[in-house]
Amino acid sequence: MSIINLFDTTLRDGEQSPGVNLNKLEKLEIAKQLERLGMDRIEAGFPASSKGDFQAVKEIADTIKNTSVTALARTVKSDIDTAWEALKGADEPRIHIFLATSPIHMTYKLKKTPEEVITTATDMVAYAKQTFSQVQWSAEDASRSDWEFLAQIIKKVIDAGATVINLPDTVGYTTPKEYGEMFHYIRMNVPNIEKAVLSCHCHNDLGMAVANSIAAVENGATQIEGTINGIGERAGNASLEEIAVALKIRSDFYPYQTNLKLDEIKRTSDMVAKLTGMHIQANKAIVGRNAFAHESGIHQDGVLKHASTYEIITPELVGVQANTLFLGKHSGRHAFKDKLKELGMRVTEDNMKQAFEAFKRLTDHKKEVTDDDIFTIVTEIQTNT
Ligand code: KIV
Ligand code: ZN
Repeated sequence: MSIINLFDTTLRDGEQSPGVNLNKLEKLEIAKQLERLGMDRIEAGFPASSKGDFQAVKEIADTIKNTSVTALARTVKSDIDTAWEALKGADEPRIHIFLATSPIHMTYKLKKTPEEVITTATDMVAYAKQTFSQVQWSAEDASRSDWEFLAQIIKKVIDAGATVINLPDTVGYTTPKEYGEMFHYIRMNVPNIEKAVLSCHCHNDLGMAVANSIAAVENGATQIEGTINGIGERAGNASLEEIAVALKIRSDFYPYQTNLKLDEIKRTSDMVAKLTGMHIQANKAIVGRNAFAHESGIHQDGVLKHASTYEIITPELVGVQANTLFLGKHSGRHAFKDKLKELGMRVTEDNMKQAFEAFKRLTDHKKEVTDDDIFTIVTEIQTNT
């Protein structure tokens, strides 16, 4: 088993979700929880973007000691200097510099030739290296870049001092096979690649961010970037809790593990949802309200006989107290009886039959039948007999 490092960017890329704005205290609270979760590294923010973000990164760098802290910078000397001022109190400060390498970005956004992009990237990595021992460089929009050009620029930024090479799928365009092949190509065609850590960073526009990240790992990436709850620009980033749990549950298949304390996942997810205001969809894997809920009679019956019939993850593994049997129109007798037992209601066989029929009638009008509804049904039947 090899360990894959998780790089959490909830406080930077995650905060780039439209409508999200975390203040310094909120960022610090999330950073402390990420530390408890066992995150290897957190990207605390983009210090040059605002005074508030600078202060938040500084506070996190000065406080968090069991998780390494990183901050983002453009390929501009003043951004790099500002990042240093914010990060210098950290135990292992790392700067994360990015510059786009795809023809679309170089032509329309940067208005630079590929040669100019190489010069800017190498000059700024070398500049950052004068203060930071760890320099991460990202080839923004790597997945839409020319692979030969990527290999050429990566070799040069490593020579200039980069210790981590991150290849983002900035617009969530790639597929697992293609993204994996890109990592393979880079490993085969960059002669000094062994001097750097290879990292992946996936967005979820086509819903493939988690699968793409795992494909990168299968092809040599040893760092995965992502966020809690998958929040981030547009459709978000790869969801780190999904990746960590997938690697754990399929450890028969994947020879990789992470350092996450999985039973801290639910608490972290709840905190991120609350402080960002980004509510989690009910059917979201691992942390959604329905991830451990069963509604159909057949499934409820199976789970009551043995949870493994319909659950591949135990709720406790990720810090959820227990599964729930949702009482609705698809529920069956077994779950109904189980609910009565849970509520401490003793009923005769005859009353049970009547109560179950009344419950079924109610489900035609109500999506979810509550404990109070059941209590009323049973009490009415018992007082009338
Ligand atoms: O998606 C992206 O390309 C980024 C970079 C800044 C790494 O977030
Ligand atoms: Zn991103």
